[in-house]
Amino acid sequence: MTQAIVNLLKKLSNAYGPPGYEEEVRQIIISEMEKIADEVYVDNLGNVIAEHKGSDPKIMIAAHMDEVALLITHIDKNGFLRFHTLGGIDPRVLYSQEVMIKTEEGNIYGYIGAKPPHLLKPEELKKAPSIEQLFIDIGASSKEEAEKQGISIGSTAVFSPRFKELGNNKVMGKAFDDRAGCTALIEIMKNIKDTSCTVYAVATVQEEVGLRGARTATWQIEPDIGIAIEGTTASDTPGTPEHLTSTKMGQGPAITIADRSVIAHPKILRKLIETAKEINIPFQFKRTVSGGTDAGVIHLTKRGIPSGVVSIPCRYIHSPLSLLNINDLENTIKLITAFIQKEEK
Ligand code: CO
Repeated sequence: MTQAIVNLLKKLSNAYGPPGYEEEVRQIIISEMEKIADEVYVDNLGNVIAEHKGSDPKIMIAAHMDEVALLITHIDKNGFLRFHTLGGIDPRVLYSQEVMIKTEEGNIYGYIGAKPPHLLKPEELKKAPSIEQLFIDIGASSKEEAEKQGISIGSTAVFSPRFKELGNNKVMGKAFDDRAGCTALIEIMKNIKDTSCTVYAVATVQEEVGLRGARTATWQIEPDIGIAIEGTTASDTPGTPEHLTSTKMGQGPAITIADRSVIAHPKILRKLIETAKEINIPFQFKRTVSGGTDAGVIHLTKRGIPSGVVSIPCRYIHSPLSLLNINDLENTIKLITAFIQKEEK
């Protein structure tokens, strides 16, 4: 396990990045990419595009900066905040979580509350509270007090940052989907500095609300090959039968054959498998066809871009915390690095 990679993942995981508000993550990626890429720029939507200049083919690797988040839609007279979700969050994971709201006055912490369990009717106790029943308590006792702390309608919240090293190469933190991919993006760019082909490392915005940033980024770049790097569901946990286990932690990068958004181009798929075998790293296939990634829009750009997806298995994505195995992240970096190097003329 490389401590530098753990530290970079920690920094990215703890950064604040709701869809459309990726600024903190963007600044970390820009400062890292400026040390290694030939050119770094930000497009009108906020995607970071880092270019390694070279000859053909043009390879685009992409990871998204945004994380699932909450959007404040109402402040009541007693200072409680109501919200909608930005991106897919199972409402069952929200109740009794700590959240962080970034405001111009600083970071505000809050707790997601609901009607206390001892006041619930027996049938209500059987169900998790719905989003409409939940509220964020920031300790304010009036609307004015909440506003004084910098909260307004349109403020956003994320699950509180609390990255931890668990031992045995495992780490736990928020937003590994897709800060694990962002970490890989930076490390791959370091590794391919001497390659002859052109590489665009793109940190995209607004993936969680519909693969939006990748659309404008790909249109500008017109790559020959696209690879999305994702933090995907690992379901190697109690209660999931073997045939429904999408990926397993510790068994290497997960190569997608098909998901809801893309069918990996056979040429790219074959090359990813060949490369993994050649460099002798473990790999697995993503065994369910659920979910979508930036590759879903990358491959549909202009005349079509042959694309694939490589994912880092993460347990409990889109919840307050996820777990991953650093070996999987490191092997993902190795796989995509070798894939790019293989394209050299
Ligand atoms: Co994702």
